[in-house]
Amino acid sequence: AISEGEILGSLYSRGIKPDGVQKLSKDMVKMICKDYDVEVIDAVAVRVEEMAKKKEIFDEDDLDKLEERPPVLTIMGHVDHGKTSLLDYIRKTKVAASEAGGITQGIGAYKVLVPSDGKSQTCVFLDTPGHEAFGAMRARGARVTDIAVVVVAADDGIQPQTTEAIAHAKAAGVPIVIAINKIDKDGANPDRVMQELSSAGLMPEEWGGDTPMVKISALKGENVDDLLETIMLVAELQELKANPQRDAKGTVIEAGLDKAKGPVATFIVQNGTLKQGDIVVCGEAFGKVRALFDDKGKRVEEAGPSIPVQVIGLNNVPSAGDEFEVVGSLDFAREKAESRAQALRLQHLSEKAGDGKVTLSSLA
Ligand code: GTP
Ligand code: MG
Repeated sequence: AISEGEILGSLYSRGIKPDGVQKLSKDMVKMICKDYDVEVIDAVAVRVEEMAKKKEIFDEDDLDKLEERPPVLTIMGHVDHGKTSLLDYIRKTKVAASEAGGITQGIGAYKVLVPSDGKSQTCVFLDTPGHEAFGAMRARGARVTDIAVVVVAADDGIQPQTTEAIAHAKAAGVPIVIAINKIDKDGANPDRVMQELSSAGLMPEEWGGDTPMVKISALKGENVDDLLETIMLVAELQELKANPQRDAKGTVIEAGLDKAKGPVATFIVQNGTLKQGDIVVCGEAFGKVRALFDDKGKRVEEAGPSIPVQVIGLNNVPSAGDEFEVVGSLDFAREKAESRAQALRLQHLSEKAGDGKVTLSSLA
């Protein structure tokens, strides 16, 4: 250890006279560390880097105002392996039965209360479609998500979109929990699924590895509580936090045009609190938030970190995956949205030019 006297001496020798109560500036610390050949670790920079890795959208100002936030979980997996059925059981609803062709079309976002340690905890679930055509949307799902719950049917094993889901989660650095589903079915072989997963690089905890796997029946609800408990444990380890006291930022997970309401977008707030009356920019769209609705279609005044919320008041339909943020004025919002639109047009044109298809008339 270096004594206080030595540090003072080292500063005095450079003509710096600290008054005893003043904090050392970063430069002073660096200088002293150099004298003693000690490596400097900038705690704030390290924390910011860690957050960047987790794709959290914080500023340095948020660091001392962070509070716990609910985990955002994305349910992924191959077509028909039971993603929507699992969510239905958890939410006590019947969405899977009412879907066109039984295939989920968009990302549904739901807030669920899960019993954990004797109290209820909020979790947010995103249901992603398993159909191959929705690969891009699923890739976006992994960006707002804290944990990927990959559903694998015990009678079907690893399929192309199982592999894809695992790859997305790994690429995004998101922890994976496996739900081996349909264990009630004839021909279900959970052990074979576990073997396949180990060959794919996910070793079950049960076999000494570090991937939690829970054998469930989404249809009968068997072991779903175990699965939720496992998910909550993984979430706790992540220490998920955000600063609810600032202007909101987050991601658009779904958007469309409603005949009565106009452009409607579902946002997931990732930091801050979104309030009615806020001015937002998201992608090329902007506007004043006229009303907010929760996942049950109930009107709400505001939405805090991790909470999905439907927003009306935008001038246009944004794209799923666009980031949104609250800004100070409508003029600024318009300017930002327009410059973004222009950047996209230019990019589009240069891509076209790359094909050699651009002509003077297409530029006009
Ligand atoms: P996509 O949205 O198309 O990707 O499908 P999905 O993964 O959401 O599957 P979904 O929940 O729609 O279930 C597909 C079929 O499997 C339905 O007929 C369900 O009733 C059935 N199913 C789901 N879970 C179970 C289960 O645990 N046991 C049995 N026997 N059937 C199940
Ligand atoms: Mg589905």
